Amino acid sequence: MLSFSTTTITSRMIITTLLLFLFTPTLVSSECELLKYDTNLLEFPLNLEYFEAEYFLYGSMGKGLDSVEPNIAAGGPPPVGAKQANLSPVIKDIITQFAYQEIGHLRAIKKVVEGFARPLLNLSSESFATVINDAFGKPLSPPFDPYANDINYLISCYVIPYVGLTGYVGTNPKLQSPVSRKLVAGLLGVESGQDAVIRSLLYERAKEKVVPYGMSVSEFTDKISQLRNKLGNNGLKDEGLKVSTDIGAEKKIQGNILAGDKDSLAYDRSPREILRIVYGTGKEQVPGGFYPNGGNGALAKRYLKSGKK
Ligand SMILES: *[C@@H]1O[C@H](CO)[C@@H](O)[C@H](O)[C@H]1NC(C)=O
Repeated sequence: MLSFSTTTITSRMIITTLLLFLFTPTLVSSECELLKYDTNLLEFPLNLEYFEAEYFLYGSMGKGLDSVEPNIAAGGPPPVGAKQANLSPVIKDIITQFAYQEIGHLRAIKKVVEGFARPLLNLSSESFATVINDAFGKPLSPPFDPYANDINYLISCYVIPYVGLTGYVGTNPKLQSPVSRKLVAGLLGVESGQDAVIRSLLYERAKEKVVPYGMSVSEFTDKISQLRNKLGNNGLKDEGLKVSTDIGAEKKIQGNILAGDKDSLAYDRSPREILRIVYGTGKEQVPGGFYPNGGNGALAKRYLKSGKK
């Protein structure tokens, strides 16, 4: 009896193994094909995730990936000009959490695609001051310092993560593989959460003046959003904390704690639009701003090359 059941189990195992052998390769290879199609789109956001990881790590703790998780940087050059921000305990705590979340995001993307090394990032005060000057269309005096205090740092956090969020919304419908879509949905969920936290913290302070400029937090967000709409060059995809009623939710309200289209769905952006914004040049072929040498990965490199022709 015992030997009979052992034989049955053994033969079942053989059959199962055979079946697996017959079917697994085709399943695996079709998933691989789909993932291969998605690779460039999945790798592209590493450019922004590196930015966010370094900016949040330095801002909260005064050190970056090279100290905290060196392998993730994959030998890319260290960021320029990043440093610890002068933050109150609660903001420091929140930004530290964001920083560790970004390390997870980088790792999660690199589990699915090979990815690339950290690009050169210019996270200097001057780099942010340039964005703010561009947003206001005139140089602020003294130059805006993102590392100076809670409000300035939160305003600087308004500058980039939202751009990543719109990128994930734009990428999702272009993906072929369920594995990629699951990854992007997971990234989008937490990036949106970070955006909501940043916007809520700013919203509480919306009427406060940013010292010493005499302009409110709300005006800063409005100007930054207008600049991104201009640089992205593809319509309205960015909204400050206070908008005219016809842009607010259901055209009913001016408070705008979250940005969204006429149905309050998140706006989407393509890799090109994102590069135009983060380079600060309005051109995906012309690097600059936070990315002095441009982004890494096939998509960013292709645009850079097309600019050199
Ligand atoms: C960083 O940006 C500032 C402001 O645009 C610029 O003066 C500086 O040269 C940049 N540094 C690098 C390494 O690109």
